[in-house]
Amino acid sequence: MNKHLTFAVGLTAGLLAGLALHERAHAAASDAPQVQLLIEADKPGVVINKNIYGQFAEHLGTGIYEGLWVGPKSKTPNTRGWRNDVVGALKKLQVPLVRWPGGCFADEYHWRDGIGPRAKRPVKVNTNWGGVEESNAVGTHEFFDLIDLLGAEAYVNGNLGSGSVQEMSEWLEYMSSDSKSTLANLRRQNGREQPFKVPYFAVGNEAWGCGGNMTPEHYADLYKNAVSFLKTPEKSKPKFIASGGNDHDTKWTDVLSKSITWNIDAISFHYYTIPTGKWEGKGAATGFGEQEWISTLANTLKLDQMIANNKAVLDRNDPKKKIGFYVDEWGTWYDVEPGSNPGFLFQQNTLRDAVVAALNFNIFHAHADRVQMTNIAQMVNVLQAMILTDGDKMLLTPTYHAYEMYVPFQGATQLPLSIGNNPAYTLGATSVPGLSASAARAKDGKVYLSLVNSNPNQALELNLVVNGDSFSAANGRVLTAATMDARNSFNSPEAIKPQQFKAKAVDGKLTLRVPAKAVVVLALER
Ligand code: AHR
Repeated sequence: MNKHLTFAVGLTAGLLAGLALHERAHAAASDAPQVQLLIEADKPGVVINKNIYGQFAEHLGTGIYEGLWVGPKSKTPNTRGWRNDVVGALKKLQVPLVRWPGGCFADEYHWRDGIGPRAKRPVKVNTNWGGVEESNAVGTHEFFDLIDLLGAEAYVNGNLGSGSVQEMSEWLEYMSSDSKSTLANLRRQNGREQPFKVPYFAVGNEAWGCGGNMTPEHYADLYKNAVSFLKTPEKSKPKFIASGGNDHDTKWTDVLSKSITWNIDAISFHYYTIPTGKWEGKGAATGFGEQEWISTLANTLKLDQMIANNKAVLDRNDPKKKIGFYVDEWGTWYDVEPGSNPGFLFQQNTLRDAVVAALNFNIFHAHADRVQMTNIAQMVNVLQAMILTDGDKMLLTPTYHAYEMYVPFQGATQLPLSIGNNPAYTLGATSVPGLSASAARAKDGKVYLSLVNSNPNQALELNLVVNGDSFSAANGRVLTAATMDARNSFNSPEAIKPQQFKAKAVDGKLTLRVPAKAVVVLALER
């Protein structure tokens, strides 16, 4: 993984030798491995698109109904049906965009079911997720209201699987037309004068699976047919996303990027982190041992190579880099919480999830030239969620805190970073790099550094050198806890939360001590 984090240079021999001297002097005072970190502040890379911090909300379990939407008549304080507590907390993450309505649900969603008076909307069965009734109370207008409340952008996923091209094209017209067409007027009649902004539109989801069990060749033809009829005024034309592959597959990226030459802005990709690597018996969200800690981290780090492999295919087929690579579903997937509906994918969230999130952020930063959007699965109550709710109670998960700590990286500019003497963290036959790091110059002009210590047993000591700038202190926050599965509960909602982290240079050298199993985000100060 480090070969991608160290995207520009390795440490020079001279610098390493110099650090080694300092290191020897320091070693007597500390038993923590001494790691060298070089940031090249004078060699800025590409911008880390803020959409890397995107979210995903599907009609699945209590992800939307209860978790976000309680309806305007609920006793739970809400704004036009959306929970004030949950929306208020999400706003602090500066959510850049939300993907909706699925997922697998998208390929069974018929948009006309979700417009007009709510009492008259048809009730359907959510066949993908628990076979429960879908009231259609949340439809297009409600979704865009949520987007407005969050100050986010919309990523709408169209139905290619069970819908028609006509239905998809009429949805786009309904949402984005400023004409006096019958569909645009229907939108007005339903309360929205101005067109909605649809900057991102996907044609189907997981076409290799729940979205139709297709070959990439068949999907590519259906995609080309569909986008030929997805017409909008030029100024409101969305970026069109083709639904791509998953896991170790690169064939979908290859076929789609070769055969679709028009109206394709990105190819999506999905990868879920499963502790055991097996769908049957994925592993528990809490109460796991160190073997499942390290296997989870090792499995999540595989995404780095998967992205690299897909980028290599794209670089061959699309050398001008017109096509983005959007990881629009990722995150941990565990055995569901005992006693919960297996179709609802509700799972607890621990310090391990925050470490997983931060490792992925660092991977996405390193690949920011192609990875211009990602969407964690999912925003509330489903899989690796930011927020869990129980009736009108709510808690912020460790994953939420990782997102909040990384906010300065949204729209920041990559800075090359090299790690020297990175100790391996090994357990049995599994080994991962002890440290993952990423640096960037944020929009506020400051240099930010993120650090993840994967080892649950040992702190790390980092000797920091910055080329092209000089710093005498680092201020930020650390997220860690006594146990690997530390979590928040409704009785103890603040058991794990970020704490202040400060360091000052001594004799012109800035040394940072990163605790075991920790995520740290710092601003460097002059
Ligand atoms: O995020 C849950 C499901 O995982 C999505 O609906 C689907 O696209 C994927 O298989």
